[in-house]
Amino acid sequence: MSPTRQALRFDILTLFPGVFEPFLHESILGIAQQKGLVGYHLHDIRDYSQDKHHKVDDRPYGGGQGMVMRCEPVFRCCEAVRAQDERTGRLILLTPQGRRLDQAMALDLSRSDRILLLCGHYEGFDERIRIGLGAEEVSIGDYVLSGGEAAAMVIVDAIVRLLPGVLGHEDSAQEDSFVQGLLEHPQYTRPAEFRGVKVPEVLLSGNHAEIKKWREEQARNRTRSRRADLLENENAATEIPDG
Ligand code: ADE
Repeated sequence: MSPTRQALRFDILTLFPGVFEPFLHESILGIAQQKGLVGYHLHDIRDYSQDKHHKVDDRPYGGGQGMVMRCEPVFRCCEAVRAQDERTGRLILLTPQGRRLDQAMALDLSRSDRILLLCGHYEGFDERIRIGLGAEEVSIGDYVLSGGEAAAMVIVDAIVRLLPGVLGHEDSAQEDSFVQGLLEHPQYTRPAEFRGVKVPEVLLSGNHAEIKKWREEQARNRTRSRRADLLENENAATEIPDG
């Protein structure tokens, strides 16, 4: 890790800060914070509502089901949180209507110095929040969650494990599924035989060139049988443009 790199600052703006506590402080994410590589700051949007009942949502204009998150507490929260640090950072609004998260996006985000994650709840945000905050909109997949909190956790996890110095072995993140555009090869640990199933001979051989070759083949076969779409993307990316 470069010794001059500042800790990546996460600001999470949510109606449910409590759900993040255990998640952020266990395992890799907790260790990353202990190592000073990352800082997590939780902000309760409700604290910024000036309504006498601290209301954060209201009925939709034009009628319809559900409640919509109000502009006032969200804008006030974003503005106050932004001002807590001189780094502007990247503001991300979690929504199923956003650009879909993938490994390339996680890697790109891991290079920023500050990330603000705005979690919605209820039926969504007042459209003026989307327009006025100029946030990047990100979805974690084509399904609808009851709020952005689980999506924010996914994004934090995908980013933090890519930060230099977080995973013990610097190559670990490089070998992940999707990094090379392929699914990862199968892994084995001791014992060499379990319930009659043996570890492939090549992995016990000590022949690093053969092991590398085997793993590459396995990754390619696995990708072909499970996620052929990834190979199509790979072909598209390596195609030489006309002219
Ligand atoms: N909020 C609700 N569903 C979501 C999704 N799929 N991705 C991000 N935020 C969301």
